[in-house]
Formats: sequence, structure tokens, C-alpha cells
Amino acid sequence: MKGIIVKCLQELVVEKFGQDKWDVIAAKVGDMPKTITPVSDIPDEKDMQALRATCEVLGISLQQVADAFGDYWVNVFSQKYYSIYYEKRKNAREFILYMDHVHDTMTQDMEHARPPRFKYEWKDDKTLIFHYTSHRDLIDLAAGLIKGVGKFYKEDLKVKKISDKELEVIFP
Ligand code: HEM
Repeated sequence: MKGIIVKCLQELVVEKFGQDKWDVIAAKVGDMPKTITPVSDIPDEKDMQALRATCEVLGISLQQVADAFGDYWVNVFSQKYYSIYYEKRKNAREFILYMDHVHDTMTQDMEHARPPRFKYEWKDDKTLIFHYTSHRDLIDLAAGLIKGVGKFYKEDLKVKKISDKELEVIFP
């Protein structure tokens, strides 16, 4: 996967918990490049190992790491690089419905990118079934990211994992 995920995780851990914690995480993963850029290629298993090592070193669950990651990605990290995407969407619903297109188009020119894809199914006018397709198994990250989007737009979204491929999102 693109280095974007590990880079964001690294920034989050260093900023909130300190460089020494990240050094322990990176040592557990092993062979972690010293400089990671958003477009570096990081083998998928390194992303998984980094997430697992973060759980171990910080003593928190994958769900908690995913929620912290989603909050940091949306509200801090992506604001530095991708604020234009947020400026064009006026609420969480519009932003989330736009995400499949963003993942598809922004990675088209990135060599080796294999982005997740999303399908949207409305159960009623407030309840969205968010279908996640990826060769990775990172739906927990998607749940954390959607919660982060709710916080950004100041909307109290309810996000529930239904299966490894589906989330239920209830809008206010
Ligand atoms: C401006 C906002 C966003 C941008 C620019 C963006 C871009 C990206 C990029 C470039 C990747 C790496 C793809 C690859 O290496 O193949 C990625 C991964 C991912 N994105 Fe986003 N993303 C954004 C927001 C979101 C949101 C809101 C969600 C949740 C619905 C989301 C869900 C994910 C997940 C779960 C992954 C991990 C890879 C996987 O599951 O296969 N992203 N994103």
C-alpha cells in the first residue's frame, strides 16, 4: 500500500505518544524505511504489522487504534494535503458518498496502488449500508475514518460494523 497510512500512523504516534514509542513500534515491525512519503510503496504486511505493533506498544485494541487513526487522518493529516476535498463537500453524507470516486481517481496514476472501493446502499433516508471491498482486511480503519468525518462536519454519526465487508452508518 502507499506509505500514506504508515506515515499518518507515525505522525499520530509521535505527536500524541512520543518518538520513543514510534521507535519501539518501528523496531517491532523491522525493515521500516526511515523516510516514508505518502507515495512510497510499503508492503501490505508492514501496514498490518505496524497497526498490530501500535496496539501492543500502546496497550490498546485495534478498534481504538483505528478510531484514533481515523480522527487524526481526517482532522489533522489530510487537512494538510487534501483540504480541497473537504471544502467542496458541505456535510458528512456528501463527503462519504464522494469517497469511492476519490479512491478510484486519485490512485489511477499511482503505480502499485490498489485502493479500497465502496458501494452505498440506503436502508432508509438516514441509514447507509457502506459496502467495503479490498484485498486488505481494514474495515476497522474505514469505521474510524467515517467517525472522523462525522467529527469534522460536527455531526453525530453512529457507525457499526456489521461484517468484515459492511458498516452501518446512521446520520443525524
Ligand atoms: C481526502 C480523503 C482521503 C484520501 C485522499 C484518501 C486516499 C487514500 C489512499 C491514497 C490510500 C492508499 C491506497 C493504496 O495504497 O492502494 C487510502 C487507503 C484507505 N482509505 Fe482512504 N482516503 C481518504 C479518506 C478516506 C475515508 C473517509 C475512508 C473511509 C470511508 C477511507 C478508507 C480507506 C481505507 C480503509 C484504506 C486502507 C486500504 C484498504 O482498506 O485497502 N479513506 N486512502
